[in-house]
Amino acid sequence: MMFSIVLLALAAIAAAAPQYPGLHAPASTLSKRQTTFLPSNITWSSSGILVNPKNDSRNIAGIKDPSIIQVDDTYHVFASTARSEGYNLVYFNFTDFTEANDAPFYYLDQSGIGTGYRAAPEVFYFAPQKLWYLIYQNGNAAYSTNDDISNPAGWTAPQTFYSDTPALIADGLITPQQGYWVDMWVICDDANCHLFSHDDNGRLYRSQTTLAQFPAGMSDPVIALEEPKKEDLFEASNVYSVGNGTYLLLVECIGAGDAAGGVRYFKSWTSNDIAGPWTPLATTQDHPFMGEANVEFTGTKWTKSISHGEMIRTSVDQKLGIDACGWRYLYQGVDPASTADYNGLPWKLGLLTQKKGCSGS
Ligand SMILES: *[C@@H]1O[C@H](CO)[C@@H](O)[C@H](O)[C@H]1NC(C)=O
Ligand SMILES: *[C@@H]1O[C@H](CO)[C@@H](O)[C@H](O)[C@H]1NC(C)=O
Ligand SMILES: *[C@@H]1O[C@H](CO)[C@@H](O)[C@H](O)[C@H]1NC(C)=O
Ligand SMILES: *[C@@H]1O[C@H](CO)[C@@H](O)[C@H](O)[C@H]1NC(C)=O
Repeated sequence: MMFSIVLLALAAIAAAAPQYPGLHAPASTLSKRQTTFLPSNITWSSSGILVNPKNDSRNIAGIKDPSIIQVDDTYHVFASTARSEGYNLVYFNFTDFTEANDAPFYYLDQSGIGTGYRAAPEVFYFAPQKLWYLIYQNGNAAYSTNDDISNPAGWTAPQTFYSDTPALIADGLITPQQGYWVDMWVICDDANCHLFSHDDNGRLYRSQTTLAQFPAGMSDPVIALEEPKKEDLFEASNVYSVGNGTYLLLVECIGAGDAAGGVRYFKSWTSNDIAGPWTPLATTQDHPFMGEANVEFTGTKWTKSISHGEMIRTSVDQKLGIDACGWRYLYQGVDPASTADYNGLPWKLGLLTQKKGCSGS
């Protein structure tokens, strides 16, 4: 009891402590855990276009929102397929990024996931149940499971984490303007699993349940982060464990400038707890975590936006581990001059590789 009061007092001091460039809150001296050092001034190099929508009978306009996981030598990618008429999911795999564009697409409406609105997948292995989970949106926060990631036909029918849109989120969807409930993301620690989602209206929500109960028992959501202007905290968040009890949160925002779909970039925060509070790491368009300002292209600059995607993780399980540097991020980009409506934009995939920002560089 006393101990937790002392910890609370120390946490309050940590929250009030000044921020140092290149370091997040100096909580390591307070929490007994060693905090992982994360750089705030990083740069990236981008590939050219690695994956195009295929010109097949599906008439897909864009390939979007990739989630990627490496198992043995194979990269498995789950992504949204978009066209003006709506969204669906696709799966493909490859062993080398130079071959990614040749990988056959397996459209997941052929599996138990079925037809209809499904988008923005996240894949991980839930070790306690020895099952692969695919998290996605279908109007609610949905999931399917599979005991073999190499068998895309094996995904189960969608089930949802909530019985209906939670009241807090329903309110967020109409305030201050029309929003959309999107981009569900699950990450677990040793005790709990957390479910994040956005309202495209400036709020990031979080629910939780115990590891033992997952996927059942998600709590009513709370607001994890919010901004008065939706553009400043928009969608597509990722949360990763960088080791030593340190977590990295990335959120896609819409910056100044003209480009099809808006100029997209990512802000970042860190915390010693998935439940927050979150300390800013790189949170402006001029000094983003990832964006036009800190990405160089090896060839043609084919996109101004660095949009919805995923880090390449170091493990496949529900803890979503990544290294503390040497990052690679699979993202969606788009020809800035495209004039299609948002869902009809020709989004394609590219890969960022971190250049600068590892400790000492
Ligand atoms: C984690 O903490 C240990 C000390 O406990 C430290 O040596 C190590 O560098 C830390 N890892 C990272 C990635 O910062
Ligand atoms: C980030 O690094 C670049 C050099 O790579 C330097 O010019 C710039 O001032 C640094 N920015 C900050 C905010 O430290
Ligand atoms: C797509 O395939 C159709 C039929 O094979 C062809 O007419 C069309 O030119 C192709 N479009 C592109 C962009 O390659
Ligand atoms: C790659 O995807 C195909 C479906 O397109 C699947 O049949 C195959 O098992 C997958 N390969 C691996 C190594 O997972």
